[in-house]
Amino acid sequence: MIEYKTGTEIINWESLVDLYFETDGVIGLGRERDLATIKKAFLNTYKIVTAWDADKIIGAVRLLSDGVCYGWIHDMSVHPDFQKKGIGQELINELMKGDENLLFGLTAAFGSEEFYYKLGFKRHKSVMAKYPGESIYLED
Ligand SMILES: CC(C)(COP(=O)(O)OP(=O)(O)OC[C@H]1O[C@@H](n2cnc3c(N)ncnc32)[C@H](O)[C@@H]1OP(=O)(O)O)[C@@H](O)C(=O)NCCC(=O)NCCS
Repeated sequence: MIEYKTGTEIINWESLVDLYFETDGVIGLGRERDLATIKKAFLNTYKIVTAWDADKIIGAVRLLSDGVCYGWIHDMSVHPDFQKKGIGQELINELMKGDENLLFGLTAAFGSEEFYYKLGFKRHKSVMAKYPGESIYLED
């Protein structure tokens, strides 16, 4: 049975990094197994929900937010062995619980757009972004 947990106190950081290594998450830090930087970033986060298969983290998502007006969703990942079982949907539901009044935003990874449509997200007509380097997601 998959268990969902909120908060950072219970996080097994090695297991979280293993997940992001598999899914190439957290702007490339997962692939580099950069535990220290991932931990620092996650500890500065408004809310984090993790999905567990026994003692292994197989899904995670986090919310950067002021808790009043806006919430930005990042680092949504479900381990490839566990995808298409409803875990991603449950992670987002848990993340939004109690914060349903916020204006939520996110940038969808290529290929994941349909997942967000199914959760009620829509394309934004005027989203702008500035990255610290080049990105295949930015238009010229
Ligand atoms: C995208 C991702 C988070 C979806 O998680 P998941 O646990 O597989 O999704 P769920 O099983 O909860 O899917 C919910 C619904 O969306 C659909 N769905 C999920 N991923 C989809 C995809 N890539 N394309 C089309 N539909 C998709 C499911 O079929 C399901 O539809 P249903 O309700 O009609 O049965 C997961 O595939 C993932 O981590 N991918 C790699 C990293 C990534 O792309 N992250 C997104 C960063 S923005």
